[in-house]
Amino acid sequence: MSSTASVQIRESTPADAEPFHAASYFTPAGVRSELQRAIADRAADALYAFGVWERATGHLVGRIALANVVRGAWQNATLGYFIGQRWGGRGYATEAVRQILDFAFGEGNLHRIQAAVMPRNAASVRVLEKNRFRFEGLAERYLQIDGVWEDHRVYSITAEERLPGSK
Ligand SMILES: CC(C)(COP(=O)(O)OP(=O)(O)OC[C@H]1O[C@@H](n2cnc3c(N)ncnc32)[C@H](O)[C@@H]1OP(=O)(O)O)[C@@H](O)C(=O)NCCC(=O)NCCS
Repeated sequence: MSSTASVQIRESTPADAEPFHAASYFTPAGVRSELQRAIADRAADALYAFGVWERATGHLVGRIALANVVRGAWQNATLGYFIGQRWGGRGYATEAVRQILDFAFGEGNLHRIQAAVMPRNAASVRVLEKNRFRFEGLAERYLQIDGVWEDHRVYSITAEERLPGSK
């Protein structure tokens, strides 16, 4: 991880309940149980969730996670992230994705990371492109968002593409 990076991703612990609560609409108890579940899921090798912390201020500015981890022949996970609106447009999501890919293809021992994004989410498309994800195609009615089955653009990147000198 670059020491000059604007943000730092960090595995969440129960001690993060307060900042997570301040950054969300959930009750303190809801946040605590969410963090406990994330810790249990990590132990079960199912989900790797991180807070995104602003280096300059120490503020929690977002969350990023690798979910749906499948081992065996696939070694695949799906990527999800958000950055709080007031911290948007500063490159934080791009940097957090860069760091989680380092984790995924290093300690996480994964081979392929997939992300799916609604075509109208231009900022997120850009975040993936800046991290050299490849567009694989349009998945119709892929996820239900606010009650609507939304088409998504599917992107992926494999470990080979992160090796120095690879395209
Ligand atoms: C999408 C999201 C993660 C982006 O976070 P961010 O920290 O603002 O992203 P970054 O600053 O790293 O990069 C955003 C890029 O999108 C570009 N962008 C922003 N709005 C855009 C728009 N309406 N059209 C085109 N490009 C846009 C920015 O210019 C920037 O690209 P650049 O560096 O080439 O200039 C954030 O807006 C968010 O959390 N949204 C809600 C949750 C979400 O959509 N999550 C992703 C689901 S797939």
